[in-house]
Amino acid sequence: MVLPDEERAAEVFRAPPDLVREAHVPSLEKYRELYSRSVEEPQEFWGDIAKEFYWRSQHTGPFLQYNFDVTKGKIFIEWMKGATTNICYNLLDRNVYENKLGDKIAFYWEGNEPGESMTITYSELLSKVCQFANVLQEQGVKKGDSVSIYMPMIIELVVAMLACARVGALHSIVFAGFSAESLCERILDSHCSLLITADAFYRGDKLINLKQIADEALQKCKDKDAPLRRCIVVKHLGREELVLDGPSSKSPPLKRLCQSVQEKKTESSKKVHPKIPWDSEVDFWWHDVMKNASKECEPVWCDAEDELFILYTSGSTGKPKGVVHTIGGYMIFTATTFKYVFDHHPEDIYWCTADIGWITGHSYLTYGPLANGATSVLFEGLPIYPDVGRMWSIIDKYKVTKFYTAPTAIRLLMKYGDEHVRKYSRKSLKVLGTVGEPINPEAWLWYYRVVGEERCPIVDTFWQTETGGHVLTPLPSAIPMKPGSATFPFFGVVPAVLDESGEELEGEAEGYLVFKQPWPGIMRTVYKNHPRFETTYFKKFPGYYVTGDGCKRDKDGYYWITGRIDDMLNVSVREKIGPIATPDYIQNAPGLPKTRSGKIMRRVLRKIAKNDRELGDTSTVADAAVINHLFNNRCETIL
Ligand code: WT7
Repeated sequence: MVLPDEERAAEVFRAPPDLVREAHVPSLEKYRELYSRSVEEPQEFWGDIAKEFYWRSQHTGPFLQYNFDVTKGKIFIEWMKGATTNICYNLLDRNVYENKLGDKIAFYWEGNEPGESMTITYSELLSKVCQFANVLQEQGVKKGDSVSIYMPMIIELVVAMLACARVGALHSIVFAGFSAESLCERILDSHCSLLITADAFYRGDKLINLKQIADEALQKCKDKDAPLRRCIVVKHLGREELVLDGPSSKSPPLKRLCQSVQEKKTESSKKVHPKIPWDSEVDFWWHDVMKNASKECEPVWCDAEDELFILYTSGSTGKPKGVVHTIGGYMIFTATTFKYVFDHHPEDIYWCTADIGWITGHSYLTYGPLANGATSVLFEGLPIYPDVGRMWSIIDKYKVTKFYTAPTAIRLLMKYGDEHVRKYSRKSLKVLGTVGEPINPEAWLWYYRVVGEERCPIVDTFWQTETGGHVLTPLPSAIPMKPGSATFPFFGVVPAVLDESGEELEGEAEGYLVFKQPWPGIMRTVYKNHPRFETTYFKKFPGYYVTGDGCKRDKDGYYWITGRIDDMLNVSVREKIGPIATPDYIQNAPGLPKTRSGKIMRRVLRKIAKNDRELGDTSTVADAAVINHLFNNRCETIL
């Protein structure tokens, strides 16, 4: 019997028995046992996990040391300090040589156009990464330097980031949808000397002249005396080395497999190949510099606490924050969350639709899956191009078993109707995931019922750029799901709910979501701005990491994220709220200018209030239409 959504939303959902049988964590009891050990004996728990990785030398000091309390001094977090390793070695060499996965496919690359695809195995990926690591070293990139990467979703993006990790350089990836201004700002803040980009790419039928935008950014940076000197450019749209071929031939690395040469030719003739601006003093083609580079490259051994990468989160005010993650902790945390949250098994085909320009793409398209020797789909295109069935057709094409996407994508596809989904089989699917914002029960139920046909548990993973990996999440066969709840904490994570005065609330409660102790994947600092790290996350409630999200805990101990705290409006009587905090005017609006992860852009709101249309860079706004609406409906009399 199909119950109406309202009743079903209150139901608790469980994984089917065949999934439970093969699960790493098959019951709630087992989850509780592992969880208790992870928080009571973090050293032993994470120490056992660390043993699965290669360490050049063991840690010298304590396994974990930290201070979360600003009143007691500097905030710091150190896991396994003194141990030496290389994350790229652990993702590639270890899987190729120790785990004998050299011939296993690391990525199925699926291009913007259906029929454009390539594959790359673990050993092929290792060779490419070594070659590019040699290129980086030839360009003078050293341990501790930073490199900006501004690329579409192509295999060279993964190669570039892992090559940085191999030589101990920090990658700073800037989402390819961002403007020259955003790119310039990030290049300046990260002090990088090298930029890696691509000629151009198509997003759906829209041409993005990436190199041209990158040049504009470099010009802006030059005016500000940036140390950036070089630019390496992948010929992606104008690829020549990718001979179009039928799917039967043995594929050399990165060979594009097309359904038929003819079909491809007609298709690409419709597309424009733009002229690429070039300055031979600055610009180098990727394929030229790779040509003579050796396929072997000794990894640079780094401390577990050395910096791995910078990733900018567009803060709600002013300058974006360069979130910094370090090597050892991030490696074991992304590997472990990937394994348990997606219940990974060697035969899985995993697909995360996020762009590598976001933390989801760093942790769950690159580091987590590769650390587990997984096979993933890397998709360049859009969910509704060339038609609204694209996602499901890719799932069928590669027999995807674990699928991870965002509530926005789910809601978008839901709008087009079930028939576009039902046209495809989707019978390979076993686990579905969501990330990025709270998922409304209606969308959850549609995902569960229509996409997963009631046999796939949904992991609603709550986390942040700052947390490095999942912090509140179901484990698919262990934790019964409630639609809209991120359920319970992952191993090593200790949440608490605080009231406005910083008191911890017990049992059923609603308030600020905070964490009481560090897990290995938590960020370590804001790039070259430690005070900003301390102020943003630790000052409001000393002794806690403050997420900035509100949450509810229900009678069964389930956590429900209610959204960013900045979204909330305090409603009270006049004695409690002083006159300066009372609004002069309340404007109704369909939405607010937000970043893609829902952070309100106060900078833009202030401009709207002042009726100042000089908004500056708005390429980080998720839905620019709301800005117009706000301008058009503002009340002139207030200011
Ligand atoms: C913010 C972090 C983590 C990768 C993508 C966004 C919101 C994220 C959930 C979820 C409710 C969620 C929070 C969080 N968020 N996942 N499952 N349920 N809210 O990364 O840009 O750092 O944004 O996204 O508000 O604080 P981000």
